[in-house]
Amino acid sequence: MSNHDNAALDARARDILIANDRGGYTIPTEGLYPYQWNWDSAFCGWGFSTFDVERAWQEFDTLFSGQWPNGMVPHILFRQNDPDYFPGPDVWGTEGIGPIPSGGISQPPVAATFVRSVWEQNKDFGAERVAALLPKIKAWHAWFMKWRTSSEGAVFLTHPWEAGRDNSPDWDSSMAMINPEGVGEYSRRDTSHVDPAMRPTKDEYDRYLWLVYRGRERRWNEEELSRDRPFMVADPTLTFILLRANKDLSFMMNAMGMDTSEVDAWSERLMKGAQSLRNPDTGLFNAINLRSGEHTGHVTSATFLVWYAGMEDQASLEAIRQELANNTYPIPSLAKTSPLFDGMRYWRGPTWAIMNALIGIGLQDMGHQEEAETLRIRTRALIAEHGFAEYFHPETGSPAGGGTFSWTAAVWLAWASSSVGDK
Ligand code: SER
Repeated sequence: MSNHDNAALDARARDILIANDRGGYTIPTEGLYPYQWNWDSAFCGWGFSTFDVERAWQEFDTLFSGQWPNGMVPHILFRQNDPDYFPGPDVWGTEGIGPIPSGGISQPPVAATFVRSVWEQNKDFGAERVAALLPKIKAWHAWFMKWRTSSEGAVFLTHPWEAGRDNSPDWDSSMAMINPEGVGEYSRRDTSHVDPAMRPTKDEYDRYLWLVYRGRERRWNEEELSRDRPFMVADPTLTFILLRANKDLSFMMNAMGMDTSEVDAWSERLMKGAQSLRNPDTGLFNAINLRSGEHTGHVTSATFLVWYAGMEDQASLEAIRQELANNTYPIPSLAKTSPLFDGMRYWRGPTWAIMNALIGIGLQDMGHQEEAETLRIRTRALIAEHGFAEYFHPETGSPAGGGTFSWTAAVWLAWASSSVGDK
């Protein structure tokens, strides 16, 4: 492990969260992502809880204040217009649907798990806050169960941004089935903030936008959108994360004396759905293009969220041990052995602190202490040596994407820092 001044890094991480605070909500990073993002925000709540519990609750409250009447919690809340980001609120065209201009899709529902974690740090202080959040979380999970689960019970995404892993090769075959006709000219802003080699391609952006335009035409009405879905991929990120979140929701509801039977039935269904993601050839969990029925065959960081969902799996355990042996840094977003591996390009190879934190939490919970601790120590070294970047090259550790990044700071404070103590 590298020699570093852990206390100075704790202070730096706190400064990043405070600097990215826009008054009750936190932006991921200045410039590239100037709004409140859904799962980023939940991670920030977890990070804030290490030094300002009240501020942590505020983060969850502001996230859920953007919830739509149908229960969906949008992937971005556009609290003020910022021309530095594209596609902004005018492109999404959601005015009048939710309480705040927003995206029309959701994101991985990590919130319940971090709400539970913050509540467990001080149950008296958090009791009222949790009680107010539980029905909102339940309504969000119900939305996923109603509009985003396959016949087998796996959670699918309807836009690459919905799984948070925008340009993962897991979506390639589904993206290839879209003809982005009529998308026209547009000006990306992301590539003016960071090196285009670290971001998705124009072909991918054309399809991202085509899907947004299609949603906008249908006023983001799920009934109408569900009639024919041009993009529909069952996904380990969403399935494992919702399953975990749902169990945490049940735990909190139970503690408050609420009936959990409906929520527990969802978990049963999701557990079956998770099994449907197992690739019969590799034995590992991967995405499935639901339009063609193909398993993608990719080993991504989402493959290793299985323990986070509270499931045990020997084949995955052997595979993660192999991944740990193949890498010196934390688990990459795509295995280096893949011909599609690209170490700097977003979700096609870089390593992400957030994914490693979720994998590590899962391993720890399921009794795989050694692997969990390895991931934590490697994530600590990566951040200590290379800073609080959005993501990192998994072989060199070079920082990539946005800098002074909120969720990397949050992961440091709540999980990777040695001041968090031994697990
Ligand atoms: N991650 C997407 C972006 O880069 C949106 O969620 O803009």
